[in-house]
Amino acid sequence: MPVAIRQIHPVFVGEVSGVDISQPLSREDAAAIARGMDEFAVLVFHDQKLTDEQQVAFSRNFGEIERSIASNITKMEDRRLSVEMADVSNLDKNQKPLARDSRARLFNLGNRLWHSDSSFRAVPAKFSLLSGRIVADKGGHTEFADMRAAYDGLDEETRSQVEELITEHSLLFSRGKLGFTDYTDEERVTFRPVRQRLVRTLPSTGRKSLYLSSHIGSIVGWPVPEALDFIRELTEHATQPKFVYSHKWRPNDLVMWDNRQTMHRVTRFDETKVRDMRRTTIAGEGPTVEQVQAA
Ligand code: OGA
Ligand code: MN
Repeated sequence: MPVAIRQIHPVFVGEVSGVDISQPLSREDAAAIARGMDEFAVLVFHDQKLTDEQQVAFSRNFGEIERSIASNITKMEDRRLSVEMADVSNLDKNQKPLARDSRARLFNLGNRLWHSDSSFRAVPAKFSLLSGRIVADKGGHTEFADMRAAYDGLDEETRSQVEELITEHSLLFSRGKLGFTDYTDEERVTFRPVRQRLVRTLPSTGRKSLYLSSHIGSIVGWPVPEALDFIRELTEHATQPKFVYSHKWRPNDLVMWDNRQTMHRVTRFDETKVRDMRRTTIAGEGPTVEQVQAA
């Protein structure tokens, strides 16, 4: 059966059938999924029981894997998963839910804020692939917002205002919004801000999107409160219900999203229970500030 994609939200998100992603993909199937990503920006695959190795192998069809380093405060020796996997679970290396006051847990709560993965890196992420190994039975939904629809929905004046703006992104900014400010000097260096364009153009489709993220802490050349107020207003616009899909996880779902065209966040759940989610991330192709704007 060939790959088939059915749109499940009015503006984006496709549900994929006809493929077992634990097995090597044919070139045609990989191309169909890549085209689906360009078009739908989020793809949902059901009933895909994966090992970490199978998830990595499937991910490699879409580019180079971004190594999960310098993206959180968990030390190498405390990691539960290999560096090819971002650990998005609530677990420590002994597979136990993190304590309420655990520094790693409090830092990871930043995922409850709308963001685009690795927008705090000079070369930010292209795709993320999240596998739900053990899902929450209540809450713990992953919500997505279509940033192309959000861009298209701006009035003309705002569109010309945002066109050339450059923002600064850092994990220090997003975590600071929840009051997490306790860092070592080394972490402050690791998490120093990087610059990104506020409007991106997807090379393969020419579509523009708003590149927002809670990692944003300033707009270059603007007073900070004015910048953060403008970013807040744009974020409210971009995350209106009509642009948002909420994914309610079933065990063994894999959801794949384009960080250049969407934002996401996770909703609250009972953290005394295990939620084991594992992400592979595809590196982007270059810095966004040097992007050549489509005419
Ligand atoms: C992520 C993330 C969402 C979730 O994997 O990048 O933000 O549902 N997690 O845990
Ligand atoms: Mn994320």
